[in-house]
Amino acid sequence: SNPSLLILPGDGIGPEVMAEVRKVIDWYGAKRDLAFDVSEDLVGGAAYDAHGTPLADETMAKAQEVDAVLLGAVGGPKYDVLDFSVKPERGLLRLRKEMDLYANLRPAQCFDALADFSSLKTDVVAGLDIMIVRELTSGIYFGEPRGIIEEGNERVGINTQRYTESEIDRVARSAFELAMRRDKKLCSMEKANVMESGVLWREVVTEVAKDYPEVELSHMYADAGAMQLTRWPKQFDVIVTDNLFGDLLSDLAAMLTGSLGMLPSASLGAPMSNGRPKALYEPVHGSAPDIAGQGKANPIACILSFAMALRYSFDQGDEATRLEQAVEKVLADGLRTADLLGEEGKAPVSTSEMGDAIVAALDAS
Ligand code: NAI
Ligand code: MG
Repeated sequence: SNPSLLILPGDGIGPEVMAEVRKVIDWYGAKRDLAFDVSEDLVGGAAYDAHGTPLADETMAKAQEVDAVLLGAVGGPKYDVLDFSVKPERGLLRLRKEMDLYANLRPAQCFDALADFSSLKTDVVAGLDIMIVRELTSGIYFGEPRGIIEEGNERVGINTQRYTESEIDRVARSAFELAMRRDKKLCSMEKANVMESGVLWREVVTEVAKDYPEVELSHMYADAGAMQLTRWPKQFDVIVTDNLFGDLLSDLAAMLTGSLGMLPSASLGAPMSNGRPKALYEPVHGSAPDIAGQGKANPIACILSFAMALRYSFDQGDEATRLEQAVEKVLADGLRTADLLGEEGKAPVSTSEMGDAIVAALDAS
């Protein structure tokens, strides 16, 4: 049977960019004999409008069954007044939590045609292709005890950084597996100089490395890592780090390469019975209410998220590369959605024109 894919377009520009991904999916079915069993459902505000909840139980159940989930974006001003328990983001959080997606993959990839767009010098970013693996389900954002307490005559805000061996082990394995499929270089970042969790992190990662003798492992303090990422990011291939440092470092790395409209992501969990990880793919950007409904959204982040699905959930690495090269081609040809134009006086292409151009580039590939 065909591989299964659940599509959750969500809110704002989510459905607009997802419509372009559908063109790409259709192309693979028609031209590469690579058909997917695609189902589509509601998430976020759209689900709240229909069902009074940002993620219906049936949708959650479907997400657990499919080979991969592809999500657009959730949220919007219309839903800001809602109670916390039914806010659109809660739909996304429920997916991540119940699928137990502990490894968040954030590539920082610079397409040559956009190297000028980076805040760094062109030669520092041109050809950049690195991957940050952030632990997503534990660490200081979840550790107990937490809260604001009274102590003496003042209040104290408390969060606890806490990692178990098994939590470190499993995310380290995800990172090593990735490194094996890439340049076989992994850098682990923590603060073992000042944090006990960092000491344990380094020990466990070093232990896991014994199962991956081909991968060259290095360790770096996370603050030094931030410096190195902006100084010469091409020294890295895969970086693995905890939830807090990963939050900061992945945002930092993302901006090395330019626009939010270009950035895909994947969140992976434990291997399923078919050996592939549970997986949710989504662009890094949100629902962009300021441009929603105007045909201005850049669909590339969502299309590249599908490319990640091809590579990591469907074992179609060559087809993923084909799709990334199609994106590279249209950018090299000078096509730009509005977010990629900066101050230049050129005319932008629309969301659907960008999608059509990528499909045409696939056709020519
Ligand atoms: P945002 O990512 O939606 O937008 C930030 C800025 O980037 C806006 O100016 C927007 O127009 C632009 N932008 C984003 N994606 C773009 C694209 N594909 N093409 C062209 N321009 C793009 O973040 P913001 O404004 O902070 O949040 C808007 C809503 O999205 C909120 O309700 C927020 O909660 C939600 N959100 C949802 C996320 C998700 O679904 N994973 C992530 C971040 C925010
Ligand atoms: Mg962040």
